[in-house]
Amino acid sequence: MRIMMLGCPGAGKGTQAQFLCHHFSVPQISTGDILRAAIKNKTALGLLAKEYIDSGSLVPDDVIIDVVKERLSQADCEKGFLLDGFPRTIAQADALINAGVKLDCVIRIFLDDEIIVSRLSGRRVHEASGRTYHVQFDAPKVDGVDDATGEPLIQRKDDEESVIRHRLKVYNNQTSPLIKFYQKQAEQGEVEFIDILGDGDVSTVKTAIFKALNENVASDAS
Ligand code: AP5
Repeated sequence: MRIMMLGCPGAGKGTQAQFLCHHFSVPQISTGDILRAAIKNKTALGLLAKEYIDSGSLVPDDVIIDVVKERLSQADCEKGFLLDGFPRTIAQADALINAGVKLDCVIRIFLDDEIIVSRLSGRRVHEASGRTYHVQFDAPKVDGVDDATGEPLIQRKDDEESVIRHRLKVYNNQTSPLIKFYQKQAEQGEVEFIDILGDGDVSTVKTAIFKALNENVASDAS
């Protein structure tokens, strides 16, 4: 199964990606997580990416395309993968096609901007695994601590309200054209396009995604 998650910042892509990756036994390729790990490890990629991420702008296409191509060439992607946060521009989507990477399914989660702001400002993350919580809507068992490891959770720098609003603008200008791009591919039978309203609790959205997958893509997605 080769899945791509599309949707504005905070729509719940990462949260739902974890269920899908577990179900289909495929790796989650989150470009945001890859870039944040590079920043933490102070690699050349991290030094380049930091300013873009902190301000909520996109890292240049040529940089991120090389990162994803390299990641997809690894053995664990042979039987499938889930792309979370890539592609984010038409140039990135074209690069996937040119590299011969075929997607089975694009899942778009959509949500009102004001809900996004409230979700992202309450988000807490376990840095090492990328596991995501929300102080109110999806709280860890113990406040401020990852359920699996007991390690502390952090708040992302780009989850400050002014940066969130900039990220939403960037999404509308640079990423939302991908909706038509993949809808057109779906009309030509090249991919399945699933549209999901993200305005329910985590398990409601999960159920809607698996139902849609079961009906449209994979018979074992129940
Ligand atoms: P990235 O890390 O990809 O961030 P994003 O797309 O902005 O997405 P988020 O991780 O913020 O949101 P999400 O949809 O995964 O929501 P989540 O599930 O966490 O990218 C960060 C930066 O990296 C970019 O700004 C850019 O600089 C750079 N970058 C990355 N990829 C790039 C690319 N391809 N090209 C160029 N630059 C790139 O949920 C959010 C919160 O809501 C959580 O607290 C969660 O617990 C809660 N929640 C989730 N679902 C629900 C629900 N149903 N009900 C209530 N709460 C919920």
